[in-house]
Amino acid sequence: MKNMTDFITQLPKAELHLHLEGSLEPELMLKLAQRNKLSLPYDDIAAIKAAYEFGNLQDFLDIYYQGANVLQTEQDFFDLTWGYLLRCKEQGVVHTEPCFDPQTHTDRGIPFQVVINGISSALKQAQTQLGISSYLILSFLRHLPEEAAFETLEMALPYRDQFIAVGLDSSEMGHPPEKFQRVFAKARAEGFKAVAHAGEEGPPEYVWSTLDLLNVDRIDHGVRAYEDAELMQRLIDEQVPLTVCPLSNTRLKVFTDMADHTILKMLEQGVMVTVNSDDPAYFGGYVAENYQALYESLEMTPAQLQQLAINSIKASFLPQDTKNSIILQIESV
Ligand code: HPA
Ligand code: ZN
Repeated sequence: MKNMTDFITQLPKAELHLHLEGSLEPELMLKLAQRNKLSLPYDDIAAIKAAYEFGNLQDFLDIYYQGANVLQTEQDFFDLTWGYLLRCKEQGVVHTEPCFDPQTHTDRGIPFQVVINGISSALKQAQTQLGISSYLILSFLRHLPEEAAFETLEMALPYRDQFIAVGLDSSEMGHPPEKFQRVFAKARAEGFKAVAHAGEEGPPEYVWSTLDLLNVDRIDHGVRAYEDAELMQRLIDEQVPLTVCPLSNTRLKVFTDMADHTILKMLEQGVMVTVNSDDPAYFGGYVAENYQALYESLEMTPAQLQQLAINSIKASFLPQDTKNSIILQIESV
């Protein structure tokens, strides 16, 4: 398996579905708790990891929002983001489009500019020191009212040059896309791109309405589209990118076992699927480990892994000439 690991690392890749708060490793969580003089419900790293047994998305979200409480200063957000970018460097990620949840922080009194400035300065430093490019995505929490998303967008507009798109995450069931139709229209009118989680736990109908009502450029997850043949045909015809997260899906019991994952069938049918890590500190692997899991459990071939890397570049928001030159590099690995 060693050679395949090297091959996966060497493929230039983009990561398009990564929650920065979900890259908070237990080691950094403890360090920041100490630095900010906060107490955690865990004594050590083993206790933190032991808490990461999830039955579903909500189980995970409860722990993920609690973990984010240690993030308080601009330096904390810098350290979080920089830690993730160092993993990108190790794993051959040449471009990343991470998202963050401003409301998770502003609702506990952390100013928006502290959050975005810490993240942005790490992203800038990655361009110059690591050669990794990035575009940031601002996600709204769907368990909160649309009015709160509007307030978040208003708060963010003075920082508009620091993010490229809006997104939608958190608890999917009971919070359908139509709840956010107006705020997505406003973000679009302001010139932002748009993505949204859909079809992770939610039904195929949520993927249809995300496409029809939110006017998104990509669907985050989207795996439940597989249950609806007509929707699959639309995704294929329109080449709508899906940012699939295999280890997340098995850890949150969207699929019982990696061998049951449908990403290979979707790829073979011509869906624009990509591979991403979602919340790597919680789900047991960064992007390369996700590719590796597909190789091991679905017996993906090197050509299929290469196609997934090509898809990640095609589905990114990079300019076409940059896409073309990275795709040529992928084809020569
Ligand atoms: N789904 C919804 N919300 C999230 C996720 C996810 O996988 N990760 C972080 N917030
Ligand atoms: Zn996600």
